[in-house]
Amino acid sequence: MSALQPATPPAAASGWSERWARQVDRWMTSPALGRWAGRSVFTRWLVRRRSRELFDLMAGFVHSQVLLGCVRLQLFERLAQRPHTLEEIAARARVPAPHLQRLLDSAVALRLLEPRGERRYGLGPLGAPLAVHAGIRDMVEHNATLYRDLHDPLALLRDPDGAQMHAWWPYTDHQDGSAQPAAPSDQFARYSALMASSQRFVIDEMLDSHDFSRHRQVLDVGGGLGGWVCALARRYPHLSLMHLDLPPVSALAAQRIASDGLSARIACHPGSFLHDPLPRGADLVTLVRVAHDHPDAAVRRLLRAIHDALPVGGELLLAEPMAEVDGQPATPDPYFHFYLLAMGSGRLRTPAELMHLMTEAGFEGVRRLSGHQPVHATLLSGQKTRCLPLEPGTSVNKE
Ligand SMILES: C[S@@+](CC[C@H](N)C(=O)[O-])C[C@H]1O[C@@H](n2cnc3c(N)ncnc32)[C@H](O)[C@@H]1O
Repeated sequence: MSALQPATPPAAASGWSERWARQVDRWMTSPALGRWAGRSVFTRWLVRRRSRELFDLMAGFVHSQVLLGCVRLQLFERLAQRPHTLEEIAARARVPAPHLQRLLDSAVALRLLEPRGERRYGLGPLGAPLAVHAGIRDMVEHNATLYRDLHDPLALLRDPDGAQMHAWWPYTDHQDGSAQPAAPSDQFARYSALMASSQRFVIDEMLDSHDFSRHRQVLDVGGGLGGWVCALARRYPHLSLMHLDLPPVSALAAQRIASDGLSARIACHPGSFLHDPLPRGADLVTLVRVAHDHPDAAVRRLLRAIHDALPVGGELLLAEPMAEVDGQPATPDPYFHFYLLAMGSGRLRTPAELMHLMTEAGFEGVRRLSGHQPVHATLLSGQKTRCLPLEPGTSVNKE
């Protein structure tokens, strides 16, 4: 899992571009040139912008702690009701007003809050979504665990299995499919509740990006508490649905589905996709925020099992956050790189890497669907156009 991979030395850039890049390095690290660039009317805007970007990088931890402080004081929910004065907030928080003012003014600087008169605060443009979505607030609180793991980034890189985040995700210890995770059931309930509260954004993204009316039966693999299948059932009354997750999660999903009155339309299949056969019959399989939790070998096995379970003409829809979605590394990437490392077994993949894995598993016409918010998920789809020969040692699943 955390074993070091033998590194293949990467190829150096070709002669010209390498020499040019080295020359730029020399210019950018020259103190004399730096002083000149900071004064010149042609370049000082660039120097100012880079200094600010670098400062923000250095201060990023403080920014996320300001956000955490506001979440813990339930400020966004309260300010959505009405603006509050500094004294009101301080009395409720039991924090001396002059100290609390530093938090509130910092939140104003970060556009989480907005001043509404003298020592009076309301919601800012970035605070409004936090007032509306409990899922974002839950993730902010949950990130406190990740940031504790990250207090020494090199220690985390050297020993990711020592991360506290690892204990949050019991199934990341069982990637070989040899055994069911035997963690207490409250561990499954804890991560499932977190996933359920953050799934709403992905659900909206998926409903907007694909035409589900042309399907008959959908199987959601690793479906968590069933929010996605319930949303599909409500939006598309003709669909019949199946949900598969590990037994403790499947039991919780079955309860939720029953309380939504959807048990007649959604069948729950407890099991592990790493060593149980997938249920047959669906003409669409969805895989939502699942592949990134698993190493390449497990994802290969899962994609191949999905391909085998689909009829010819069937389709796979895969949705999760991906790296370099606009063709180059972007600022959301580091969060997912480190989260998945601390979690214990998966990795953030680019759309191209996932498309390659899907193609390898036998899917054709693999493509990226247009979406609105890649920070929540990027969507890929692929079709099964023919049956592949059975892999050696595989038996035919008669289910
Ligand atoms: C990150 S959660 C995503 C849940 C849901 N799809 C969502 O987007 O909220 C990954 C899910 O995969 C499930 N899972 C992990 N390993 C599994 C396995 N071997 N077999 C079946 N489900 C598994 C987990 O229990 C969990 O519900």
